[in-house]
Amino acid sequence: MYDYYLGGKDHFQVDRDAAEKILRDVPELFQTAQENRAFLRRAVRVLARSGIDQFIDIGTGLPTEGNVHEIAQAIRPGSRVVYVDNDPVVLTHARALLVDERSTTVIQADAREPDDILGQIRALRLIDFDRPVAVLFCAILHFVSDDEDPASIVRRFRAAMAPGSHLVIAHGTRSAGGRAVGTMTDAYRKATASVHLRDPERIESFFEGFELLPPGAVHLPWWRPDPGADLERATRWHFGGVGRLKE
Ligand SMILES: C[S@@+](CC[C@H](N)C(=O)[O-])C[C@H]1O[C@@H](n2cnc3c(N)ncnc32)[C@H](O)[C@@H]1O
Repeated sequence: MYDYYLGGKDHFQVDRDAAEKILRDVPELFQTAQENRAFLRRAVRVLARSGIDQFIDIGTGLPTEGNVHEIAQAIRPGSRVVYVDNDPVVLTHARALLVDERSTTVIQADAREPDDILGQIRALRLIDFDRPVAVLFCAILHFVSDDEDPASIVRRFRAAMAPGSHLVIAHGTRSAGGRAVGTMTDAYRKATASVHLRDPERIESFFEGFELLPPGAVHLPWWRPDPGADLERATRWHFGGVGRLKE
């Protein structure tokens, strides 16, 4: 569905039908996906410029324009990236398009099993956990229910991160309110993962142990917008930011 929102070509009729149903109540659906993806690109750019050259991208999604390794390596050639997703379709496409044995790879794993992810990544020896790393949870923690405890997943990664490491979170919110939130939640009940939209305060709490980079945790279009960004038209469907591990 997300690939369809982003204008990709790797989606099925069932994805398009579900998206069209959401669109009736959420006409800004495609825009929200673009806003999320644009935030991810800005965050990776900022981190690469600040010296980060190792990235773990959890809930990668299908390859799209401006994948993490492309952005990072354009600024820091040789940057290492591990992509993590549990969807076999994503894995097939990612293996075909993203893998470059020296710097970039993809593993199949479930975000709800951080120890498995960390174990698989350590075995690859691509990421040096003694050096700063950026861990990205972009549009993925809202597929983790309260019972599955998203905060504890982030904490597990935090414990493995060296000083100077960063956390990037983009998460769906209920800020849009009303019927649109119900429509979105209902549509994902029938998808591969149900969606759990959360309040901004709750999302910000996932940064515990991290110091937020300016401007803090905000609705994503307001996170260091590109010059000329049209914030009058921006939506409040995604919230998040970038945090630096407290020392
Ligand atoms: C909305 S896409 C986000 C893609 C990308 N991170 C972005 O922000 O543009 C969500 C991705 O998370 C993956 N996903 C959902 N639940 C997951 C889980 N429990 N473990 C790993 N990946 C998951 C889906 O397969 C999908 O590729």
